[in-house]
Amino acid sequence: MTFLSTPVKNAITELSTKFDTPFFVYDLDTLNTHLARLVAQTEVKLWYAVKANPLSSVIQRLDNAGFNFDVASKGELEQVLAQGVNSERVLNTGPAKSPKQIKHFIERGVRIFVAESLNQVRWLNEQANLQNCQLQVLLRVQLRWPDGEKNPLGGDSLTPFGLGCDEWQALNTSNYPALSFDGLHIFQWGNMLSSDKLAQLWSQMVAPLQQLASDLAIHLKVLDLGGGLGIPYALDAPTLSWDALIAALAKIKRDAGVKELWMELGRYAVGECGHYATPVVERKLNYSQQQVIMSGGINHLLRPAVTNQDFPARLLRDSNAANQAMSLYGPLCTALDCLGEHQLPNDLNEHDWLVFSQCGAYGFTESMPYFLCHELAREYVIQNGVLTCVRQAEDASYYLR
Ligand SMILES: Cc1ncc(COP(=O)(O)O)c(C=O)c1O
Repeated sequence: MTFLSTPVKNAITELSTKFDTPFFVYDLDTLNTHLARLVAQTEVKLWYAVKANPLSSVIQRLDNAGFNFDVASKGELEQVLAQGVNSERVLNTGPAKSPKQIKHFIERGVRIFVAESLNQVRWLNEQANLQNCQLQVLLRVQLRWPDGEKNPLGGDSLTPFGLGCDEWQALNTSNYPALSFDGLHIFQWGNMLSSDKLAQLWSQMVAPLQQLASDLAIHLKVLDLGGGLGIPYALDAPTLSWDALIAALAKIKRDAGVKELWMELGRYAVGECGHYATPVVERKLNYSQQQVIMSGGINHLLRPAVTNQDFPARLLRDSNAANQAMSLYGPLCTALDCLGEHQLPNDLNEHDWLVFSQCGAYGFTESMPYFLCHELAREYVIQNGVLTCVRQAEDASYYLR
């Protein structure tokens, strides 16, 4: 993994001399290059899982690159439409689609839905009838594997995402004339870093999915494999090979006999474009452990506390000092506010800044900014080499009532 490109490093260094609170920087130039590579193939239709980063300028880059959009809430839908995206390019996934939400989505022009329960199928049909339209529907399937691995997306555990094949057997598709059942959706494994493992999981899915489609008399036109493509969070971890993935996906497409293969990418699309920088407040030795206390922590980057997986951290300034293990803590009064143990130069001190990479996905909006009334983090973008502030650091009076 490369650390910081020169434009990003220069931008963060400049900002660190002006401000004393944490901020995010998203490198949209690097993002553009990455997205151009992802769309340069014809095997898989790509959707952007907006939950990864709903920032308007990020959505605009995905739109320009030709991605479609997977939204899981009214807020995400409105944010995507506000960027000028046509609702025909929007797909709705998510376990909590109430009749009211479905009604709103149809009113706003959305026609493609992933149904996660028998009730959702019924409500989709009712709302489509009321608004006199036809919807394209994929059924979300939850499979079980014998090796029983766990994963933030559930892996082999029971989750509320979709239904098992046995439960879907109760569906009689002919009872829902307003719905075109065009395929199946399956996604149970997040942040996978091996294309072989992904290919193996995907290929195990083909037979049970084909069987389910045949049981339900669904012509399997579309297979949606969700997200799950990983990015390395450890400095020495491997990166996925896009070419190997496309080859694996082409095989799945052939084996499953589907006309269209879809994926909704979050982390793999935008994760690497984001960086989070925070000042160091102090360093102390405690029970022989080097502890670094920072201005920002899980109030701005919650993910390490919920997944036990740290974002890679580096010292912003160059240092020739030898590395030493240091535990990094944020400002919240909970032991959960720890961004991990990292090897950092042993001259690190209270005048320094730390930079966390891979923060473009599941960063700012996946966090807990209100606890303890600290500032919201600033957000910046670099586009065509120009640094622009897209969010000021709001202090707690902004959100306290
Ligand atoms: C339905 C769905 N699709 C796609 C994604 C994006 O996953 P990833 O970030 O692994 O690409 C998610 C993430 O939770 C999801 O719930």
